[in-house]
Amino acid sequence: MSITLGTPWSESATRVLLLGSGELGKEVAIALTRLGVEVTAVDRYEGAPAQQVAHNAMVIDMLDPVAVKEAIRASRAQVVVPEIEAIATGALAELEAAGEVRVVPTARTTQLTMDREGIRRLAAEELGLPTSAYRFASCLEEVQAAVEAVGLPAVIKPVMSSSGKGQSVVRTAQDVAGAWEYAQSGARTGGRGEVSRVIVEGFVDFDYEITLLTVRSRAADGGTVTSVCAPIGHRQVDGDYVESWQPHPMNDAALERAKEVATAITGALGGWGVFGVELFVKGEQVIFSEVSPRPHDTGLVTLATQRFSEFELHARAILGLPVDTSLVSPGASAVLKSPGEGVASFTGVEAAVADPRVELRLFGKPTATPGRRLGVVAARAGSVAEARELVARTAAGIGIELS
Ligand SMILES: Nc1ncnc2c1ncn2[C@@H]1O[C@H](COP(=O)(O)OP(=O)(O)OP(=O)(O)O)[C@@H](O)[C@H]1O
Ligand SMILES: [Mg+2]
Repeated sequence: MSITLGTPWSESATRVLLLGSGELGKEVAIALTRLGVEVTAVDRYEGAPAQQVAHNAMVIDMLDPVAVKEAIRASRAQVVVPEIEAIATGALAELEAAGEVRVVPTARTTQLTMDREGIRRLAAEELGLPTSAYRFASCLEEVQAAVEAVGLPAVIKPVMSSSGKGQSVVRTAQDVAGAWEYAQSGARTGGRGEVSRVIVEGFVDFDYEITLLTVRSRAADGGTVTSVCAPIGHRQVDGDYVESWQPHPMNDAALERAKEVATAITGALGGWGVFGVELFVKGEQVIFSEVSPRPHDTGLVTLATQRFSEFELHARAILGLPVDTSLVSPGASAVLKSPGEGVASFTGVEAAVADPRVELRLFGKPTATPGRRLGVVAARAGSVAEARELVARTAAGIGIELS
């Protein structure tokens, strides 16, 4: 079988529908359009970043299965690429099973990873991968029992949440009730009187954490090959990444183990595309945390460091094209966060882009809210230390004005 790519807006078009049109989807859309793919970008609001660069845009409630099916059919997409977790994954499974579309990486994977319980049980109970101690709980009494079982400190997270929402660390038995309440407020479902299930995890006292971008792509013989990018180190503040760098130094045994874990979990999920495998490392011990079946925010650093960014890798893998995960240079990324509410303007941009090592991305989000990620500075340099210093200095030189 050879891969054929068509012409947008024609009968021959290779059509991809993005479910979720944020900054990561915007880069995927750009990578796809460079290969002549017709892209439809869907989000729950108008003017989302990826919609600004796609051929077609649609605004729907992505949790509504009927709306999701209608959007996919109206776009005539052959491939559906979820960019977020909060979507009606049952609708994707239905259309995939009927042979109407291919879901990236697979519909089952989007179902397993939208819920911390699905992916945790697969990793720990089916694959036997090391994880934090964990229990699931659906009421305060169960949470208290779970905390007793996993021990203190513990981390409590809604099973359906991302970016650290509703997540807190419990250090004493007195903190448990507050953490349960907080989880209810941050969960994706919940609200409308619904109780959100939580995962209670033992706190892992790791030396460092990494994202291992892992690509499953089509091999020359039509099978699948797994490639792993150089490890990405990152720093999280309030469950949100603020800085990442690549490569993160690792001892050989830990790196080998990390690759084994990444290959195992992505192999069990299947399909083609980029996965962001989140791992905790302590000495030579590698502990699986979670996985995104799509490019990862900490992987924005690859815009500056790799032969192909994680977005280009995703585009290639999705289309059945070969990939190359080689690192070209050490580098780092720093996010630009909104200081408040309004419509953003950016100053000091000329100084930032004057440096040939710097890649600047301004996402074009139509409205800014406090702490919302509005852009990123990525850069390559002679060393990670130099790159981190460069992106921090460059990001600090960009002013954000709100009107
Ligand atoms: N069991 C744990 N022990 C120690 N630290 C943890 C634990 N679980 C989470 N963390 C810390 O909190 C961060 C966010 O956790 P996690 O990735 O599970 O949440 P998330 O909401 O999915 O975040 P994101 O969407 O940004 O990946 C982790 O990167 C890690 O720094
Ligand atoms: Mg995470």
